[in-house]
Amino acid sequence: MIDCLSRGVDDTHLIAAAIARLVRPRDMVVLSGDMGAGKTAFTIGFANALGVDSEEYVSSPTFNLVQSYTSGRIPIQHADLYRLSSRAEVEDLGLRELADMGSVVVVEWGDVASDVLGDALTVHLAHNDDADDERDITISVSGHGWDTRWDQLATAVRTWSVN
Ligand SMILES: Nc1ncnc2c1ncn2[C@@H]1O[C@H](COP(=O)(O)OP(=O)(O)O)[C@@H](O)[C@H]1O
Ligand SMILES: [Mg+2]
Repeated sequence: MIDCLSRGVDDTHLIAAAIARLVRPRDMVVLSGDMGAGKTAFTIGFANALGVDSEEYVSSPTFNLVQSYTSGRIPIQHADLYRLSSRAEVEDLGLRELADMGSVVVVEWGDVASDVLGDALTVHLAHNDDADDERDITISVSGHGWDTRWDQLATAVRTWSVN
């Protein structure tokens, strides 16, 4: 587990970018944390770092449960499970299958469905009582997919890490 302190949205973008540089096709990235914690902000920093063209955000339909961004280094599938109420609805999205086809899948509120999503890197964002723009960001992993990258990840986020 790596604990980081983000002092503003720019830090969150940079932390996301540091993680994005290490991701591979088939990775699942689960984002957890309350409304307004910065899950979407993280996703934007992550997608930008993978080289997604900003045009692609603007032109993407907003009603899809899963947004695809394909203009970057690896295709990204981005889902937000906030409005989904049952495990079956989450299963129907086929997020694990999308990852297995070679995308990196980023799932907001993914912690509610971790058993459906399988092995993942989890990034938890939490408001911090000290300041409006501060977030405590905790990075953890399930499974072995990050074993050989974990040290690199720790180094990549060292600027913000507090442990
Ligand atoms: N350190 C920070 N990290 C992320 N977002 C921050 C931070 N400080 C302030 N914010 C603001 O908090 C809001 C986070 O919103 P959003 O990313 O949509 O949250 P979520 O997707 O978790 O509901 C944005 O308006 C962002 O600018
Ligand atoms: Mg969001």
